[in-house]
Amino acid sequence: MSFSFSKEAVEELKNRIDIVDVIGRTVQLKRAGANYKGLCPFHNEKTPSFIVSPQKQIFTCFGGCGASGDVVSFVEKYYNLDFNEAVQKLADEYGIEIKKKEYKDDREKYYEINREAARFFYRNMTETVNPGYTYMKNRGIEDRTIKKFGLGYAPDSWDALYNYFKEKKTDEKILVELGLLSQKGDRYYDKFRNRVIFPIINTAGKVIGFGGRALDNQSMPKYLNSPENRIFQKKNNLYGLNSTRQDIGKEGMAIIVEGYMDAISLYQSDVRNVAASLGTALTENQAKLISRYTKNVVLSYDSDEAGRKAALRGIEVLKEENCKVKVLHVTDGKDPDEYVRNNGRAAFLQLIDKAMPYTDYKLEAAKRGLDVNSEEGKLDYMKRISPLLSQLSPVEADIYIRKISRDVGISEGAIKMEISGNNISAGESRRYRPQHENGSDDSESISPLEAAIIKCLLTDPALSEEFLEYTGAVENPLAVKVIDIAFEFYGMTGDFNLADICDRLEPSESEALEQAIDKVIITGNEEGVFRQCIHRWKLNSLEKQEKEIIDRLSLADEENNRETVKELTIKLMEIQEEMKMHGGKM
Ligand code: UTP
Ligand code: MN
Repeated sequence: MSFSFSKEAVEELKNRIDIVDVIGRTVQLKRAGANYKGLCPFHNEKTPSFIVSPQKQIFTCFGGCGASGDVVSFVEKYYNLDFNEAVQKLADEYGIEIKKKEYKDDREKYYEINREAARFFYRNMTETVNPGYTYMKNRGIEDRTIKKFGLGYAPDSWDALYNYFKEKKTDEKILVELGLLSQKGDRYYDKFRNRVIFPIINTAGKVIGFGGRALDNQSMPKYLNSPENRIFQKKNNLYGLNSTRQDIGKEGMAIIVEGYMDAISLYQSDVRNVAASLGTALTENQAKLISRYTKNVVLSYDSDEAGRKAALRGIEVLKEENCKVKVLHVTDGKDPDEYVRNNGRAAFLQLIDKAMPYTDYKLEAAKRGLDVNSEEGKLDYMKRISPLLSQLSPVEADIYIRKISRDVGISEGAIKMEISGNNISAGESRRYRPQHENGSDDSESISPLEAAIIKCLLTDPALSEEFLEYTGAVENPLAVKVIDIAFEFYGMTGDFNLADICDRLEPSESEALEQAIDKVIITGNEEGVFRQCIHRWKLNSLEKQEKEIIDRLSLADEENNRETVKELTIKLMEIQEEMKMHGGKM
C-alpha cells in the first residue's frame, strides 16, 4: 500500500474514537481511579499492570513489556498491521470516512527542468558557433561524443538561460534550487556562463545535475558543479554510468576514473566500460552502485598525491562490496584522458592488463618515503605492512610473505613473527573503545538533553506516562538504566524519587547521575521544559530521518524503483510535516 492519510485526518479520527472502547473489546478492563486496568495483551502476566488512560487516550504496560501508545498503535500492535492499515480498520469499524492524501512526486518537475536546461545547452553547443565547441575540438572531442554525452555550452551571458526559462514561465525558485540560477535580492542571473556543460544523468535516464568546465585553465573553479539538492547527491552517482553500464556488464569489468574528461575520452577511444567518480574519493554508495554491474573494478586515478590517496581509499570501500580491485596510474601524462590521447587505445588496454591487484598496490604504496634497502627502512616498512598482511587469508598471506621476503630481503620467518606480534597488539587495542567522533569522550556521559528529561521526571513522576511514547529520546546506557528503574517504581507505586533510583545504582553511577542533573536548572514549569525537550529530540531525530530518506530516494531513483520512490516520497512528506509540528523548518 502506498497511500497515506493526512495528519489532521488521523487526529480527527482519534478524537472521535475512545481508546477505552477499542481496547475494551479485546481486553477486560476494570476502572481504577481515573484510569482502566487490565491484563496486558502483549505479554503474559497474572496481575494487571496494563493501564488505559481515557484522559490521555493512551495505553501503557507497566509490567515490564513496555508496550505503550495511542489507539492506532494499539490496533497496529494487536492485529499486527501497519499504520495505514490500522487507521483504515478503525475508520471502517466506526463508520468514519477518512480522506486519503494525494500522492505526488514533484521531483519529476525538477528532472524535467534539468532536461530542458540540458537541451538548451546542447543546442548552443551544436547549433551555434561558440567557443565551447572550439575548446572541445581542441581537446580532440568528436561530434559523435558530444552527441553521445549530450555535451553543451553555456553562453557567456548573465541571462541567456534565465530568459529562456522566463518565457516558459518556469518557477525561478526551483531554478535557484537546482543551481541553474543565482539570486541576488530580487534579481536572477545564470550560474553557468561561458562553460562547457556535462549533464550528469543517472541510470534511470534522468538529468540530475551539471558540471561546467571553464574554457581556460585560469578561471576558478575549473569545474563548476550543481549544488547538492533534492535530486542531486554527488556521492550517489557515477558520471557516464547511464551510457556505459551495458559495456561494463559485457566486459565484466569497470574502469573508474576521476574526471568527466577521462570518462568521455576513454569512451571515445573505444574503452567504453568506464565511469567517473567526479572528484577524488570513491564513496560507499558509488561502490554499491558499481558493484551491481560488476565486481571487477580497476581504479584509474591521476598519478599525483591526491590520486594515490584516492586509490587507497577506493580500495577499502570497494572491498566492502566484495569487489576485486586493481589499481593503475597512468605513466605518461597526468590522467587517463591525456594518456589515451597520446598513446591510444591499445596502450591503455596494456596498462589495464598490468594493473596491480590491490594488495600489491598497497604494499608498493607503503614503500613511499622509505629506503627499503636500509635497515631502518626495512623496519619501518614491516611496521607499515604487517596490519595489512594480518588481514589476508592464510593462503594469500603465504604468497605475499614469500614475495616480500624476496623483494626487500627479510626472511619469511621474521615477517611471520612481525605479523603475529601485530595480531596480539591489535587484539589488545580492540579492548579500548574508540573515541567519540568529535574527539571528546562524552559518549560516556549523560547528555544535557537526557539530564533535563530525567530531572523533569524526578520533579513530576506523573510525566512518566507521557514519556513512555518517547523513551527513544534517551540512549546513554546509564540514562536508560535510570529510566527503567524509575518506570518500575512508577508501575508499582505510581511514584519514584532520586533516592529510590540511586539505591539501585552503583555508587559511581549515582554520582554520575547526580552530577548530570545538578547541572539542570528547572524553575517550576517542568511540564513545559519536558515538552521542549521532547520537541527538540523529536526534531533532531526527524532531521536525521529526513537526511536518510533523501539519500535513499536518490538511490531508489538509480534503480528506477517506482514503488520504493513512491513510498519514500510519502514518508518524506510525512516527516517534513511532522517536523513542522515540532517547530522545525518549513
Ligand atoms: P581534475 O583537476 O583532475 O581535472 O579533476 P580533469 O578531470 O583532469 O579536468 P581537465 O582534464 O583539466 O578538464 C578531476 C575531477 O574533479 C572534479 C571534476 O569532476 C573533475 O572532472 N573537479 C575538479 C571539480 O568538481 N571542480 C574543480 O574545480 C576541479
Ligand atoms: Mn584532465
